[in-house]
Parts: sequence; C-alpha cells; structure tokens
Amino acid sequence: MAEISIQVNGRQQKHEAEPRTHLGDFIREKSRLTGTNLSCEHGVCGACTVLVDGRPVRSCITFAGACDGHEVTTVEGYDDDPIMSRLRTAFSEKHALQCGFCTPGMLATSRDIVLRLPDADEARVRIELSGNICRCTGYQGITAAILSVLQALRDQPDAQVEALRAAVVQNVPQDWDQNSFTTFDAVQEEAQMPAPVAAAAPGNADKGKGQAIQGGFDARFPADQVWAFMKDLPKVAACLPGAIIESQEGATVQGKIAIKFGPMSAAFKGNATLEEDNERRAAVLRGEGVDSLSQSRARGDVSYQVQPDGQERSRVHVELVYSLQGPLAQFSRSGLVQDFVRRMIAEFGKNVNLRLENPLAEGHEPVVAEFNPVKMFFSILWDRFKGLFRRA
Ligand code: FES
Ligand code: FES
Repeated sequence: MAEISIQVNGRQQKHEAEPRTHLGDFIREKSRLTGTNLSCEHGVCGACTVLVDGRPVRSCITFAGACDGHEVTTVEGYDDDPIMSRLRTAFSEKHALQCGFCTPGMLATSRDIVLRLPDADEARVRIELSGNICRCTGYQGITAAILSVLQALRDQPDAQVEALRAAVVQNVPQDWDQNSFTTFDAVQEEAQMPAPVAAAAPGNADKGKGQAIQGGFDARFPADQVWAFMKDLPKVAACLPGAIIESQEGATVQGKIAIKFGPMSAAFKGNATLEEDNERRAAVLRGEGVDSLSQSRARGDVSYQVQPDGQERSRVHVELVYSLQGPLAQFSRSGLVQDFVRRMIAEFGKNVNLRLENPLAEGHEPVVAEFNPVKMFFSILWDRFKGLFRRA
C-alpha cells in the first residue's frame, strides 16, 4: 500500500492504495465519484476517460500512482468550465446521448477536440472521436454537438475559451513526465484494401473480416472446363440459388440475392467483382449488399479454386468469409448458418454439374437453379438431431 495524493475536481484526495490500483478505481472507490464509467477496462472503449492535468486519459489503464501530485477532472468537476457548459447544452440540443453510459468519456474527449482543434471539420471530429465507443451508436448527434460548439466559437469567439486554448501548451507542468501519458495524433487509416488476387485461394481469403466457412464440391469434368465455367459470372450466378444479375460491366456485376432460411428472409441488393488468377484456376468474388427490409449490410468474399482430381474430374474448393451488420447480424454466428452455407455450396455444385452436362445451346433454356429453403432448413435440423444421438 502507498499513500497517493491526487487533486480530484479541485479537492485533495489522499488515500492508501495498492500500486496496481488504476485511476478509474481510485476515483470511483476511494473518492466515491461514480460518474466515471468503467466498461472494457482495456483502454479500448474510452468510457472511463478523464482529464489528467487537462489532457484526456483512459483511467482504466492509468495507475493512480502515476497521477500522484497531479490534477484530475472527472465529469463531476466541469461546473465552471466554459467549454463544457457549451458542450452540455449542445449534447442536449443535438440528442447526443441515449443511455448516457459513454457520455462522461465522450464529453472529456469532446472538450479536448474543441480545445485543440478550433478548425476541425466533420471528418476530423470523427477521427478524433474514434477512440470512444458509444454502444447506443449516437455518433451522429455527438459529432453534430461538437461541430455546433466549434462553429459557435468561430462565429463569436469566447474570451474564456480563447484563454484556455492559449494555455494548452503553457500549462503543461514543468515536472510533467511525458512518458507517463504518451499521446499520439489520431490518423485516418487507409481503408482495408482487398487482398491481391494472388491470395485468391481457399484458406487464403482475408481473415479477420468476419466469419469463415469452408466447403466444396466435386465436378464430373476436367479442371480446365470447370474453370472456364466458374469464371463466367452470369453462368455462376445462374447456379447460385436466389441470385439474379441485373447488369454487368467487365468483372463487376450488380444484382441481388434472396435468402430465406427458417424465420429469416432477406434480399441483399448490391454489387460483386470477380478477381481471377488463371494460372492457379482461382478467383475471389467480392461482394457487398444491403437488405432493403432490415437495412442489414452484408459483405463477403467467396474464394474458390478448381483443382484436378484425375484426368476427367475436378474438385472445387470454396471459402466464404462474410460479415453482417444490422438486425440480421444475430444470425451470423450460429452453427446453423454454417450448415446452411455449406449446403448452399453443395446445391451450387449440383447446379454447376447440371449446367456443364447441359451446356447452353441455341434454342435451349438454361437449367434453372432450384432451391427449396424449407426442405433444406428441416434437413439441417434433422441431421443435427441425428448427430446428437450419434454423440450420445
Ligand atoms: S473502460 Fe477504460 S477504455 Fe474502456
Ligand atoms: S449513449 Fe449509450 S453508450 Fe453512448
């Protein structure tokens, strides 16, 4: 135990604490100031952000001992702060809080933005806010509130705020240990780029982008013939249950795919681009779309590779890496969905074989992809049911 003395909201707080005590726990448990919320306790969500000597600091990963002799301001201590009084009003006017859990941390970060970045535009505000997570996803209102305060201060400068801004640099204490609270500039990272086509092989799809499901099917045709078929987007789409191509421009198609699975029904409309690697008979179909009903968004990369299996047969390996956002995301992790996708791949394989046996010819109707989701749903359940007894 050591005695730690911190000026919290203008009052000296002297308490015995273990060296491992974090500032957030010190504030809440020793000083009984429970406005500071702790959530992830890993420095990720920003809920616990407080000001240490005027700078925003994550109190869940800052040792209280490191703040010995310093000044800490929590959400309970902003009464006389001219920036915070503007922010409070703006948060209320712009509906910038819902449950309010993130609000103490959001306010601390917002104050810092207003203080340091008088000319920040919306993009900059969003980058600066990126370290604070709002579970209620109230970012629109929060951004609007900060922008409105910045604009008001540009329209009509406030002497008190200007004095605070001028003091930002000078006020850093002489004994400030720069290493205790290392800061860095927020930067806009490049959007995640698709993996190069060279990686377009099963098992090589971009990991970390979502759920990955592997599958495959056997084709009763030589690999070159199957590959020629598999890189023809309209032909591939015609074999995919529920898929419709509406337009095509080069390797990019616009279209939709309807999915019905038990209680879940969605029609994702969007686009997909095929990247090919002829040498390896591999391709990645990158697609994204929005379900008009639930407004759920789906992104997915379907990687496939055709490999010979003897002279006359081949095997098509398929991997789907997908992510879902929105109401339908609740279905994305279930084992049933994995089964569902594998069976879709099997259905797709059946249709590919059918199409290859009956190549399109003048006067012949294309083979229509048939898909019975209800039958598939119950067949999956039945298989799982049987599996339970096998395990028992
Ligand atoms: S609780 Fe501190 S960053 Fe999440
Ligand atoms: S308002 Fe609820 S977490 Fe942000």
